[in-house]
Amino acid sequence: MSAYNRARLQQQAAEDTYNTTTSRIQRIQAQLTNAPQGIRLKDKVCIITGVGSLKGIGRAAAIRFAHEGAKHLYLIDYSPDNLPELKSTIEKAYPGVKVTTLHGDAADEGAISGVCSQALREEGRLDVFFANAGVASKQTLADTSSETFMNSMRVNALSCFLAVKHASAAMQKTDSSRGKEHGGGSIIMTASVAGLRSGAGTVDYSASKAAVNSMAKTSAYQLQKQDIRVNSICPGLIETGMTGDTFEYARQRGTAGRIGQLNPLGRFGVAEEIAQTAVFLASDDSSYVNGQNIAVDGGLSASHPVMPGRWA
Ligand SMILES: NC(=O)c1ccc[n+]([C@@H]2O[C@H](COP(=O)([O-])OP(=O)(O)OC[C@H]3O[C@@H](n4cnc5c(N)ncnc54)[C@H](O)[C@@H]3O)[C@@H](O)[C@H]2O)c1
Repeated sequence: MSAYNRARLQQQAAEDTYNTTTSRIQRIQAQLTNAPQGIRLKDKVCIITGVGSLKGIGRAAAIRFAHEGAKHLYLIDYSPDNLPELKSTIEKAYPGVKVTTLHGDAADEGAISGVCSQALREEGRLDVFFANAGVASKQTLADTSSETFMNSMRVNALSCFLAVKHASAAMQKTDSSRGKEHGGGSIIMTASVAGLRSGAGTVDYSASKAAVNSMAKTSAYQLQKQDIRVNSICPGLIETGMTGDTFEYARQRGTAGRIGQLNPLGRFGVAEEIAQTAVFLASDDSSYVNGQNIAVDGGLSASHPVMPGRWA
């Protein structure tokens, strides 16, 4: 076979893979949207950070939490741009769910202690904190400055520390008039497969996410016997605002079929697939899951990055 024909066949195979992936993802998204509304988060007062990106994990989680009947959602982002639209989208689709949006920095102690106090003041309880805000960096090791390193640690790791510290204190408060007779709650943090192994992010980003994974274990231990669970989610490659440029570049070059090929499912993921894990961890369905780093990555972190038929 000529080199030209071989290249054409490979290109066709990549396009077929991409089409299969996008139709699979559309089916998953449609199934979630059309599913009957649930009660898994009924009565729960929840805080989510990093909700402002239109394709982001935080926004998808806010919508899934509403779908599962959360009582009041406090939604935070440092970019105010998309907050009014998110609030009206949720209120229109789920009129029984209260939504408060806040323009603030997830790594600012005053902002995080403030929203926890606000939930206690207004609702008498806090049940779930999903610390999801994060930033990625792009520099090579040689070009990474101390400022870049500290910024990744601040936004990705300090934000989670503040969530654990202030949310756990608020979750211990009881108010029987609001249906909370015992303290307790669920703290969920978005880490990354980059926090488990190398190869999925820069040094500073990966270190910050490893810190998040460590905090899931150490704070679960510190909070023992308080019925407060702490877990982290480690997403693989998800198409969101954070990764949008990479996806766009691959589409323009005609290599979109290769995205996500290194994991056993052979595809990238979408925000709703991470949001569903957050719903599970927020709900009592996961009542005995604690101190875990849960990879949601198509099997990427479970396998060696070897393509079938390409052993050498
Ligand atoms: N997309 C992926 O492939 C992937 C993989 C692993 C982990 N993650 C993690 O998932 C989380 C969500 O990211 P995403 O992929 O939805 O990206 P995204 O960029 O689409 O959304 C992140 C949101 O966080 C907000 N944000 C950033 N810093 C903030 C701060 N200091 N205070 C408040 N809000 C802030 C941004 O404005 C944005 O709305 C991040 O922690 C990210 O590191 C993403």
